[in-house]
Amino acid sequence: MESSEAIRPEKMGPLVLKETWNTPGSLVSWERSENVYICRGERGGIAFLFLGDDMFRMKVFRGSVPDLTTSPAVLAECCIPHLFPEEEDDERLIFTTGAIRLIIDKATFLIRVENHQGITVMQQNLTSWNPRGASHAEYDMQPDSHFYGLGEKASFLDKRGEKYTNWNTDVFAPHLPEIEALYETIPLLIHMHGDLAYGLFLDNTGRSDFDMRSHGVAFTIGCDTGEYDIYFINGPEMKDVVKRYTTLTGRIALPPKWAIGYHQSRYSYMNQQEVLQLARTFREKGIPCDVIYLDIHYMDEYRVFTFDPVHFPEPEKMIAELRELGVRIIPIVDPGVKKDPRYEVYQQGVLNKHFCRRLEGDIFFGEVWPGTSAFPDFSDSRAAEWWGDLHKFYTDLGIQGIWNDMNEPAVFNESKTKDLDVMHFNNGRPVTHEEYHNLYGMMMSKATYEGLAEQLGGERPFVLTRAGYAGIQRYAAVWTGDNRSFWEHMAMAMPMVLNMGLSGLAFAGPDIGGFAHHTSAQLLVRWTQMGVFFPYCRNHSSIGTLRQEPWSFGEEVERILREFIGLRYRLLPQLYNLFREAETTGLPVIRPLVLEYPRDPYVANLCDEFLFGDNMLIAPVYRPDTEHRSVYLPKGRWLDYWDGEAFEGGVHILAAAPLHVMPMYVKAGSFIAEGPLKQHALEENGDAITFQLYGAETSEDFRAAFSLYEDDGHSFAYRKGEYSVLDVAAEGESDGLTFRWSYQTGAFRPRRETLRFELRYSAFQPEGIAGMKRRTLEQLDAGQTGWCLGESGGFLVQVEDRPEGGTLKVRAKDGNEGNSR
Ligand code: GLC
Repeated sequence: MESSEAIRPEKMGPLVLKETWNTPGSLVSWERSENVYICRGERGGIAFLFLGDDMFRMKVFRGSVPDLTTSPAVLAECCIPHLFPEEEDDERLIFTTGAIRLIIDKATFLIRVENHQGITVMQQNLTSWNPRGASHAEYDMQPDSHFYGLGEKASFLDKRGEKYTNWNTDVFAPHLPEIEALYETIPLLIHMHGDLAYGLFLDNTGRSDFDMRSHGVAFTIGCDTGEYDIYFINGPEMKDVVKRYTTLTGRIALPPKWAIGYHQSRYSYMNQQEVLQLARTFREKGIPCDVIYLDIHYMDEYRVFTFDPVHFPEPEKMIAELRELGVRIIPIVDPGVKKDPRYEVYQQGVLNKHFCRRLEGDIFFGEVWPGTSAFPDFSDSRAAEWWGDLHKFYTDLGIQGIWNDMNEPAVFNESKTKDLDVMHFNNGRPVTHEEYHNLYGMMMSKATYEGLAEQLGGERPFVLTRAGYAGIQRYAAVWTGDNRSFWEHMAMAMPMVLNMGLSGLAFAGPDIGGFAHHTSAQLLVRWTQMGVFFPYCRNHSSIGTLRQEPWSFGEEVERILREFIGLRYRLLPQLYNLFREAETTGLPVIRPLVLEYPRDPYVANLCDEFLFGDNMLIAPVYRPDTEHRSVYLPKGRWLDYWDGEAFEGGVHILAAAPLHVMPMYVKAGSFIAEGPLKQHALEENGDAITFQLYGAETSEDFRAAFSLYEDDGHSFAYRKGEYSVLDVAAEGESDGLTFRWSYQTGAFRPRRETLRFELRYSAFQPEGIAGMKRRTLEQLDAGQTGWCLGESGGFLVQVEDRPEGGTLKVRAKDGNEGNSR
């Protein structure tokens, strides 16, 4: 006898059902409800929320009322809808803000944005969804369209011709240009065409895709689950988009200074002695270093919140000794909690229902480093707080930074992650892992950051993460995961980190030297030269690979690395200033040239060189056995950092780059703030500052200005006003140059008595300063005021650093010829 099982549909062969895609149809009616414009079509609708003149949200809905909750990426304070005047005729419904007009075509529901000059900025064509819950929309693409953003993606800077999936994935290999999904999801696409740029941010935490390849004159943005919830972010400049996107999803919190120093890591430093010896070696060799990482071997059989009792028997003592040397520890913390009934963290998690479960109540277990493990449900504030509190284990030992890894979450199974039907209880609004997946890593880092902040009593915490979603910048720096010691991966780190910067992730960087595979002397040199200019600067390598600490390849390599790591430390005031700028404006620390020179036709996809801030151009060598490279200099006058050779921009030049040199250029008429060389960022050797002015001229239209932000570098006191901003300006005159400086606010008093100004590579020969004595460099170093010719020929002035500021005039030699170095 057979049961009905005999006629199960799948026994009849595969069922091919044609997928039907629905559109909202024509616009049938619209209404305004609590400042939300709800536009209904024949089969669904779109709710429009204007978040100011330059930003609006479009939420597609299928039922009768839209659900307007957002993901945690979006800051609640940005979501207050504004009203703008509307007009309506038979064909169109139009909303006009101070910057744009949003035009809805009634017959087709097509959505167009134009600026007040009547130029189309964005056109959204079909918006559609299928019965299985996937949605997508199609947008116009122009012959001159270029695309940026999307966070951490492989391939070049301009994403035109590429297609990507957002599904946070642990990709040990390969990080090839064709790989569509890596560890992070930042669903922000910046579209630049003509003189215009705008952004589209799809706030969807499930799987999404961005296709700038397959549709000729259009690109598409889609998602597999959840609702289609997209934000239009106006430019007109790309910088405006970045600033607005980071108002919506938040900006980095100013890191403690030690977190922007040089970091050393390895999978793994195996025991306490090795770690201490490592720190001592840095100090003996005079190579600056702020942090050593403890990878998974520090734990007791990979149980998070433990130390291995044999290899790390006295963590407290080790950490205190390291602190004496000015070195901090950052331990790794993965989300997987070992299934072990004798392990307290596991017990607490089970008993208090903190782990991810299926709807039926059974805990989801997956294999990771500790073996069978359970995973906290960070969507539940109770579990998140529990996790945050657990970090007291580390903070009590003096630890202030945590490294979150494997938080895609990675699971050693076929799907590489949790089963899609595992639930996230989400404070009473349960969702499946399928819908929540891309948020997991960010919520882990949020819990970690908040726990640390709570326990550190006013000190700034630092969190590093591998996975994240839009908004992760508020909680953590991001490193780009398991790259390899390939020259290609060094080169790819540039566009990757540059696009991360355009996507709000101002604090990012790759494993310097490459993680997997074996590095080489040259690769380590070239990668470190580049890496010291990246916002996040860590050398990390995998188990079983050649060692890549700075002294691993002999004396010459060590000398070059000491020099470049030292350069990062001398430039810390400049770097810290850029981090402060990222905190206040959202602009990235390192920038693709297209961000600063969007009208330059050569830079749309230029990504083998980049800008450090807006005035230093860094051109790394990223091929072996290469001692020259071509460098593109954009508009303006550029000075070779090393020898002052001047170039008029808009040209490609051939730069000489023997192994100890990385080509670097400084924009003439700009300042760099240099501090003393430190062995670690908070070393107590004062806050001396030299304002180096590059390429000064005596012409009357020569102007340069700079503002230096300073604070204690480690606490949150700056948020209560304890910081200072020192404005510095220089003006050319026919017979010389005047410097002026004054403190905008001086609530924080840096540890110094004097300030220095230095003319580097100026176009005139300075003769002296009225009312100031000529001194020797030694006298200036001993604290006397006056001027002198510096070691490399530059002209130096030292003045008293008074709260009221001051002014001084450098006289030019008659004839104005010569070149001061
Ligand atoms: C992952 C991380 C890597 C780490 C390793 C061991 O592969 O990406 O950085 O060293 O796990 O924890």
